[in-house]
Amino acid sequence: MCGIVGYIGNEEKKDFILNGLKELEYRGYDSAGMSVLSGGELSVFKAVGKLVNLEQKCKDFSSVGFGVAIGHTRWATHGKPTEANAHPHIADFSNVIHNGIIENYQEIKSGLEQQGHTFISQTDTEVIVHLFENYLSKGLEAPEAFKNTIRDLKGAYAILLITKKEPNKIFYAKNASPLIIGRGKGGIYFASSDAPLIGYADEVCYLEDGSMGYIDEDNFHTLSPIKKLDQNKGYAQKEGFRYFMEKEIYEQHNVLLETMMGRASEGKITLDSIAPSFFDEIGEITICACGTSYHAGMVGKYLLERYAKIKTNVVIASEYRYASPIVKSDELFVAISQSGETLDTLEAIKFVKKFGNKTLAICNVDNSSIVRECQEVLLTRAGIEKGVASTKAFATQVMILWILSIYLGGLRGHLSSKEIEKSIEDMVESAKKTEICPKMHDKIKRISKRYLHGHGFFFIGRDVFYPLALESALKLKEISYLHAEGYPSGEMKHGPIALADSELFTVALMPEHLLYEKIKSNVEELSARDATICAVSAKEFDGADDMLYIQPCKSYMEEFFSMMCALQLFALEVAVRLGNDVDMPRNLAKSVTVE
Ligand code: AGP
Repeated sequence: MCGIVGYIGNEEKKDFILNGLKELEYRGYDSAGMSVLSGGELSVFKAVGKLVNLEQKCKDFSSVGFGVAIGHTRWATHGKPTEANAHPHIADFSNVIHNGIIENYQEIKSGLEQQGHTFISQTDTEVIVHLFENYLSKGLEAPEAFKNTIRDLKGAYAILLITKKEPNKIFYAKNASPLIIGRGKGGIYFASSDAPLIGYADEVCYLEDGSMGYIDEDNFHTLSPIKKLDQNKGYAQKEGFRYFMEKEIYEQHNVLLETMMGRASEGKITLDSIAPSFFDEIGEITICACGTSYHAGMVGKYLLERYAKIKTNVVIASEYRYASPIVKSDELFVAISQSGETLDTLEAIKFVKKFGNKTLAICNVDNSSIVRECQEVLLTRAGIEKGVASTKAFATQVMILWILSIYLGGLRGHLSSKEIEKSIEDMVESAKKTEICPKMHDKIKRISKRYLHGHGFFFIGRDVFYPLALESALKLKEISYLHAEGYPSGEMKHGPIALADSELFTVALMPEHLLYEKIKSNVEELSARDATICAVSAKEFDGADDMLYIQPCKSYMEEFFSMMCALQLFALEVAVRLGNDVDMPRNLAKSVTVE
């Protein structure tokens, strides 16, 4: 989730750009940069790490008088966090910044290289500015050249481009990544969210997907719809939501599409820069993680064994290396971590590396300790996760594990191309199912008042819905401080059912497309003993006291992602009613860097 700012006007440009990028720091980044075009001069500054490093680089630079400027904070998805990969990306006389993923950048890049263009970064973004200048070199005017450039791109993007060819304009394009254009007394402003515009712009246009063109000092009024900008900054950072956790639950739909970009599309699956040979001689997989990431790993086990037919173990990092584990030479060690800094997981990787085993990180933060410790990485691309209770990181971890299981299923000859194609369709449908339905959210807000007391919760499920039950229980515990357990529903009769009474809240995950009759009979055993049942399903279950309906689905993984959202919101709304600090729950840290 990179940050974007831009400016057209006579005010000092560096100040607006740097202040604007500071307002976007909450989105997380690993490098930053800006370009200023004024008086025929195009000045570019880039730095790795925090914004102070960029400020240091441009401390002697100032730019008054009319001009245009763009600035960017980068969250690495393609290519390490280096100065060369930082935005803006430059060609001969144009610069570009971009948020999103250009899916077809490789084919565009090789086509441009054949026409003599040279690239200095590993990013997808750099192709945009070279493609633009390539069209100019064929005699097109800048607006036409930009239009053709955008037409050739596939994927998600929010783009700002400046060029010496048109020094009073900023070219823009928006598809699936947010981009806002505002106007104030000081000029024209651009940003990827409200926060940088507050105090500068009075009116704004939130661009729709498919918007593109150029803005100069005279044509802001051609945009539509134009509305007043809310000047409440705190509200803006949460982009209108009450908590970062709530914003991140609502972001899952978009970040899941980014997770899939360039990996699962057009009927085929690729794993970034990981060569198929990396998986040669792998006879077994051990997934190692903590907390929510461990629950994602448990889902991965079901998927890898079902689709890739590969034996998969899932271990809790803090237990693993003290348990004198048997490490087999053909075992791939997969570490899952949102932060990439969890010490238990990091130490487990170091332990296994002593045996010479291959290691793969599934992580949200590029260049983190865990990423650097592993041979290969699959970035989850969830963007910064501010809420201590993990939500979108979990969703993207599960999606990566699903992509990995289908990829290995194909690689090992267990899945036909038709089955792979069907899986990708299910992935796309699953991502769609994480688009929050306001009616469902309102229902959850209402029923949450019934679950504020009692002597505890059981979340029960089978197969992949068992780790989802564990994760849902953890979400509730973390932010409501109420006791909750996740349990395999078939296990309730082996002891826990002794707790069943009207004060025992059981949240039953009842997917239609996986073992429905089994879970139904497990739940009936409980409701027959007067347990209070909240059934989560697309199908009416008359043994429930409460129904939490999800939309009808065509596959069990669609149901998984749909129920995941419902149960994240359930935990959130119970915690809100209890008056807890949803984003910063007591006793918890976002990254546990101690044993
Ligand atoms: C999840 O809601 C928790 N905040 C916690 O369990 C977390 O998942 C765990 O500490 C692992 O963190 P990591 O994914 O950054 O390694």
